[in-house]
Amino acid sequence: MDRIRIVGGERLNGVIPISGAKNAALPLMIASLLTDGTLTLENLPRLADVQALMRILGNHGVDYSIEGKRFGQSGEQGRTIHFSARQIVDTTAPYELVSKMRASFWVIAPLVARMGEAKVSLPGGCAIGTRPVDFLLMAMERLGAKIDIDGGYAVAKAKNGLRGAEIAFPKVTVGGTHVALMAASLAHGSSVLHNAAREPEIVDVADCLVKMGAKIKGAGTSTIEITGVPRLSGARHAVLPDRIETGTYAMAVAMTGGDVTLQGARADLLQSALDTIVQTGAQITETNEGVRVYRNGGAIQPVDVTTEPFPGFPTDLQAQLMALTTMAEGVSRITETIFENRFMHVQELARFGAHIRLDGDSAIVEGVKRLKGAPVMATDLRASVSLVIAALAAEGETIVNRVYHLDRGFEHLENKLSRCGARIERLSVGD
Ligand code: UD1
Repeated sequence: MDRIRIVGGERLNGVIPISGAKNAALPLMIASLLTDGTLTLENLPRLADVQALMRILGNHGVDYSIEGKRFGQSGEQGRTIHFSARQIVDTTAPYELVSKMRASFWVIAPLVARMGEAKVSLPGGCAIGTRPVDFLLMAMERLGAKIDIDGGYAVAKAKNGLRGAEIAFPKVTVGGTHVALMAASLAHGSSVLHNAAREPEIVDVADCLVKMGAKIKGAGTSTIEITGVPRLSGARHAVLPDRIETGTYAMAVAMTGGDVTLQGARADLLQSALDTIVQTGAQITETNEGVRVYRNGGAIQPVDVTTEPFPGFPTDLQAQLMALTTMAEGVSRITETIFENRFMHVQELARFGAHIRLDGDSAIVEGVKRLKGAPVMATDLRASVSLVIAALAAEGETIVNRVYHLDRGFEHLENKLSRCGARIERLSVGD
């Protein structure tokens, strides 16, 4: 199994291109099931999760073709892939495929909306606490699907199609909002989603659905109105830049010091996280190219941050922020409100010599003067990259084990960082 070796202590300087957002790419790919036309997605990141979803969609009958490289394009630019679900040949999403990636459960929405039935394994995914799908099933039921849980599968039926409904989510849910949006787009009549997620990835998917012929108003606010249409067509859409990748590299620079331009990044997608990074002492400016982050000398300042649904501080950057605050001049408090149990990086960060104490849903981080490299284990997607950030600033060598978590969500991580001066390399099996 691959490992990553990092020798810390180098400042980061240069340019890091930001990839297409994983959390938009996945639902956009799933939206291809809604139409018998061709959905062309540009700027898709090369990630294990994207590959895994291609296999799942292929199992339902989606054909895809990957556009070749164009003249002058580097091998690292996002890919353009055409998805065509002309005929859905199988409405079952089996355990072996869905258990690897939670978002694949969302196929339930287009399958039921278009085919009137779906049998989808209840999901697996990151080990960051219980991540139920009750709100997703509630949304499908509100839209008229009959749902049974049978042998670990959600079996959904709507023989006469879905019908529009009012859906009020008890808690903000990104997955629930994606599912309701896709399903309601092909339902008979109008739907209103209350307490909808406002994440930029929801807006990106809604924009794409509108290009496909959907009638959607209010995406990006907590009330979304959808008027169902009988069919959707193909379209062409470019995936928006990854705000979590942006925030991750911004925190890496805030940690090591240096000066990096995050090319193609959009500050408006992560203002709250950028504000926090500025509070830690880094400087951030928007440029024509993207977002520039720099910190030259000066101590890292402690912060008090609570994760919240968008536009608040994202839970997907919580682990990275914790890595950054381990070397702050003072005590930080980081409170996690979205997922219980999303503190598995705490004991791994302790292996670098970090001082972190858990207090209910908060982590109290007492900054230390230096970290020391260590062998560590990646536990989930975002936790893994927090270990990389700590390692970049730690003295000596770190080996990050179980890097398949990183490959699920970070495209060309070692290349992007090493080009900015980091000493980082992948050790493949046998090295
Ligand atoms: C998505 C993101 C993930 C991010 C999360 C929160 C993707 C592919 N993944 O995950 O990276 O960390 O949003 O921003 O976009 N909940 C329930 N019942 C449900 C659904 C959710 O109780 O049926 C709870 C969850 O346990 C959690 C909260 O609601 O406490 C938010 O979860 P949700 O927004 O649904 O997360 P995901 O869509 O799975």
